[in-house]
Parts: sequence; structure tokens; C-alpha cells
Amino acid sequence: MASKSTFFFLTIFLFFINLTVSQQISTVDSECTNRWIHIRTLPSRFNLDLLSTCNHYPITDDLCPYLANHGLGPKTHTHTRSWYRTDPLLLELIFHRRILEYPCLTPDPNLATAIFLPYYAGIDSLRYLYGPDLNSSSDHGSDLLHFLTNDSPEIWSRRSGHDHFLIMARPAWDFSQPLTVDPPIWGTSFLERREFFNLTALTLESRFWSWQEQAVPYPTSFHPHSLPFFESWIRRVRRSRRSSLMLFAGGGGTSSSPNIRRSIRLECTTTNSNVTKSENAKICDFVDCSNGICEHDPIRFMKPMLQSSFCLQPPGDTPTRKATFDGMIAGCIPVFFEDQTAKMQYQWHLPESEYSEFSVMIPKEDVVFRGVKIADVLMSIPKEEVVRMREKVIEIMHRVMYRRHGASLGLMSKKDAVDIAIDGVLNKIKSRVDDL
Ligand SMILES: *[C@@H]1O[C@H](CO)[C@@H](O)[C@H](O)[C@H]1NC(C)=O
Ligand SMILES: *[C@@H]1O[C@H](CO)[C@@H](O)[C@H](O)[C@H]1NC(C)=O
Ligand SMILES: *[C@@H]1O[C@H](CO)[C@@H](O)[C@H](O)[C@H]1NC(C)=O
Repeated sequence: MASKSTFFFLTIFLFFINLTVSQQISTVDSECTNRWIHIRTLPSRFNLDLLSTCNHYPITDDLCPYLANHGLGPKTHTHTRSWYRTDPLLLELIFHRRILEYPCLTPDPNLATAIFLPYYAGIDSLRYLYGPDLNSSSDHGSDLLHFLTNDSPEIWSRRSGHDHFLIMARPAWDFSQPLTVDPPIWGTSFLERREFFNLTALTLESRFWSWQEQAVPYPTSFHPHSLPFFESWIRRVRRSRRSSLMLFAGGGGTSSSPNIRRSIRLECTTTNSNVTKSENAKICDFVDCSNGICEHDPIRFMKPMLQSSFCLQPPGDTPTRKATFDGMIAGCIPVFFEDQTAKMQYQWHLPESEYSEFSVMIPKEDVVFRGVKIADVLMSIPKEEVVRMREKVIEIMHRVMYRRHGASLGLMSKKDAVDIAIDGVLNKIKSRVDDL
């Protein structure tokens, strides 16, 4: 049984859905030309039912506590207004809640440029990835497809699916198991289904040859709701004394075979004893997040990130990392070791041409096989340049932040990760539909 509080969240959530649907007609039309979005009404088995079973999922953590605050999770402590214990998987819920506030919603699918499917695909995938449906993971999506092609099928077929989009808050790799691989090695086949080739999926990580999906930033724990709260955080980030040159927050790197995480661990543990005399500063700070101990516990890594100039973002099981975005929120300049970590992923949110202004790239082969010391590279960057880069990180911070639903108008003037994702979806759909 899900807890009482879960049902409370669901009730509130439903209330907002109704509220928004009744208000959506009043918006000024001119701003909405070519921007109308219709939210498809899906049976509750595609969304709310998946939340009511939040403690039944075959994963170690009970998802229920993290449903609080429309998927932002519980607050980190009682008095905070902006910090939450956010679970990245619940971006599906966060995004749904935010799109209900989108000013150009229309109840008429025929007027809409884009059709949003409020299906919690990543949450639904858990039973295929880890649970009882492991051996039928190629079925993921069959039920949705059946609904789309039977219930008002003209909506789905009107533009061959090109105008439909959804959010799947996991790496696209988890949904890309070729249908021909039997038994499946890993993942469901949702994105491999021919019938879904034309829709757009927002994922936390895209494949390198992505056609359907576009990666959007991992949600961090910072979700301010007004401009003063956002600006006071920016002041704190600017003021923060950066007492260590670089920081690595993560796990792994303990195996004996050469890889970038191992090199980072070795460099950090050997240089840690070396304190630079002039600034009494550490070279490398290492926050051990092994065994998932940092998940849902942002205090563990946000404080150290605030105190470090650079944050190391090596690939792990997948090329991308949530910590890239945590670090940027802390004004910590990201150091990448391969382009797949961010440059080839988040083109909408972090334009490729700006990477040299806010990040450092050190090819992982140089570190692992050619003896390049990360600290040497970072120390050789002139101080003024470091300051400039940090300012750039601060300047673009709002692009990777997910502000809280119901935010003030002041804060809404800064485009956040959801606003940018919606702009991107509309542009992509427009270019696809124009080509038809
Ligand atoms: C999946 O199939 C394998 C091999 O047939 C079997 O051992 C396993 O128990 C099945 N898993 C589930 C969850 O049904
Ligand atoms: C995808 O779109 C193309 C046109 O761009 C169309 O020919 C094709 O049938 C569509 N696929 C599906 C499965 O609807
Ligand atoms: C630590 O500092 C000493 C003295 O400056 C230097 O010889 C040594 O190479 C440094 N160790 C590392 C791992 O950088």
C-alpha cells in the first residue's frame, strides 16, 4: 500500500490538472502563434497509477518520499525555500507539473503545434529493467501505442507522430534494446519500435546517433521560486571562497585496470597531502559517493562544490553525469574528459560554441596513458581566466536549473531548463513538419 501522504500528493496534483485545464483558454493568442501545445489525456495507468505504487518498484529506494512537492522531493531542511532531495527519475513528474503552467495550452489538438504525452515512461520502465517484466522488455510501449492508434487515432496519425513528444527521465540507452536481441541484454525497446521513430523523447542522455531523443539536464536539488531567492544564491556562489583547486564527487575508480576515474582517484589521494603554501589551499578535494550515499543528500557535495574552482566530470557507467549540473549550480567550472559527457548531449541548453568559455576539456587518454596531471593543466590557467569562466558558469546557470512550479514572474523572465526544452521541441517539430 502506498502511504496516506502519497495519496495526498496525488490529490493535489489532480487538482492542479483541473485548475489549469479550466484556465487555459484565457491566454493572449498572439504570443502563442506556432507555440500551442495540447496535453493528451491519457488513462491513469500511464501516469498517476504509476505513482500510487511508488513503493512497489524493484529498486533499492522507495520512490514515495520523493513524490513530494510535485516530484521535487522533500525539502532538504525545514526552513529552506529552494533546496529539495530531488530524484532525477521524477523529472517526468516535475516536467508534467511545469507544462501545466505553460501559457499556450490548448484543449483542441487540431490547433496545437505539439502534442505532449504525459506518460511516466521511465517509472513504467522499472518493471522491465529490474522487475517481473524483464523477459518481455520489448513490449514497453505496446500499451501506449495501442491507445494512440485506437483512441482518437487521427491525433496520432495527423502528422505521422512527428508532433508528439514525451519525457523519459533516464539515459536513452535504457530504451534502445534492438528488438532482435533475444534474450535482451539491457533495456527496453521503446525507442527501437518503428512506430515511435517520429516522436521526440526528452531523455537524460542521448545516443550518439540520436534521431528521436534530445538530452535535457539532470535535475539538481536547487529549485528556487522567486528572483530574490535565485539572486541571493548567485551572490553566495560569487562570494564563496574557493579553497581547493579541484574536486571530484563520485564513486568508482577502485579497479586496477586503467581508466579515468582511477587516474583521478590516484591523483587526488596523492596530491591531497600537498598543500600550496601561498593560499593554504587544497589541490584536490575528493567526496566519496560510493554506494549511492550522495543520492538525495545534496549537502554532502554542494558545500565542497562551492569551495572548489573546478569540478571533475569523468564518464562512468554512461558518459554523462548529474554532478555536471550540481557543480554548475555551485559555480564550479566543469572539467570534461570526453565530448560525450556534455558537448554532444545538451546542445539546446549548453550551446556547443560556448564550451571553451565555461569549461575545460582534458582528453582522458592524455591523463590515463600519457601521464598528464589534471592539477598541472588547471594550475596553468591564468587567474583572470578562471574568474571569467566562473562568471560564464553563473551567467548560464539558469539554463540548467529547474525552477519550482508556481514561480514568480520575475524568475520566469529567466529561461530555465523546461522553458528551453519546450522551445527546442517546438523548433524541432516545426522543422520536421515543414519537411513533410
Ligand atoms: C527470465 O528468463 C530467464 C531465462 O529463461 C529466467 O531464468 C528468469 O527467471 C526470467 N526472469 C523473470 C523475471 O521472469
Ligand atoms: C514517419 O514519418 C515519415 C514521414 O516523415 C512517414 O513516411 C512514416 O510513415 C512515419 N512513420 C510512422 C511509423 O508513422
Ligand atoms: C608534492 O610536493 C612536493 C614538493 O613540492 C613535490 O616534490 C611532489 O612532486 C608533490 N607531489 C605531487 C603528487 O604532486
